[in-house]
Amino acid sequence: MNHNVEILPSQKQFECEADDTILSAALRANVILPYGCKDGACGSCKAELLEGQVDYGTYQSRALSEEERVRGKVLTCCAKPLGPVKLKVRELSGLGDIPVKKMPCRLQSIEKPAADVAVLKLQLPANEVLQFNAGQYIEFMLRDGSRRSYSLANAPYQEGGIELHVRHMPGGVFTDHVFSTMKEREILRFEGPLGTFFLRDDSNKPVVLLASGTGFAPIKSLLEQAFFKNNTREFVLYWGARTKADLYMQELPELWALEHGNFRFFPVLSDATPQCNWQGRAGFVHRAVMEDFPDLSQYQVYACGAPIVVDSARQDFTAVCGLPEEEFFADSFTSLADAPG
Ligand code: FES
Repeated sequence: MNHNVEILPSQKQFECEADDTILSAALRANVILPYGCKDGACGSCKAELLEGQVDYGTYQSRALSEEERVRGKVLTCCAKPLGPVKLKVRELSGLGDIPVKKMPCRLQSIEKPAADVAVLKLQLPANEVLQFNAGQYIEFMLRDGSRRSYSLANAPYQEGGIELHVRHMPGGVFTDHVFSTMKEREILRFEGPLGTFFLRDDSNKPVVLLASGTGFAPIKSLLEQAFFKNNTREFVLYWGARTKADLYMQELPELWALEHGNFRFFPVLSDATPQCNWQGRAGFVHRAVMEDFPDLSQYQVYACGAPIVVDSARQDFTAVCGLPEEEFFADSFTSLADAPG
């Protein structure tokens, strides 16, 4: 049996089959709601249930706390309506015109700028282009039917293939292959673009970007696109890593800071060793942001990387620094990362 779902404030309505989640029914109806992992792990799809009842489904408590659930929040990627429902969630425009495609690609090159980071450049079939918004991700479809997600690290205006930054997860089926037997010209299949982590163009607020580890990849895409479009908003990037070697492309944001007057860059190390010979910021990367921006009430924040970093930032920025909850955008590297097999 189908149930009616109404989204406010856009007042869009669509039908959701009894066994379907609100998010998948919305996407099928071309109503684009915010989402990331589609798996109850990241919290990006959080909405407010105004009327009706849902089966909340299975999710991780860090994505939706008990207290939030009591306040009427739901995760649309897990929730299934039990009757007609009304939800408050900001619908996204523009994405509906970008087709999500499945296509093959060929590994053009693989470089390892750090011991556990590989930069893959992938070539698309001659007659194909991949339209996407800077910040989105793709999912590799592996032979065993499983999937692995990686953010696109290049900007959409750059033609001629796609770039991904892959961190080695020892024991992970996919990344063990990337770091041992993967060869140039290998053929892979993927689906994309996916996700709603991209710069909101309907705002002029200054932007704080927070990356941990290979969370730099979608931030790179987003910034390269912003510079290409001569975006005049203020951008400040905090890139957190354990040691200096983990800042595998540090020279690139350093160069941007020289080239663009509206961009600043702060690398932050949490476990600097004597070999790092580090004179820069130290500690947790989100704490460095809080030191510099005790009041974030007039900012937008885009955070990407390890769930612990993204969750801490969301929690502390909203609770301590006055960042409005709806101005925090995140791409948390959660369940579809390469877990040990
Ligand atoms: S928790 Fe729903 S998209 Fe991640």
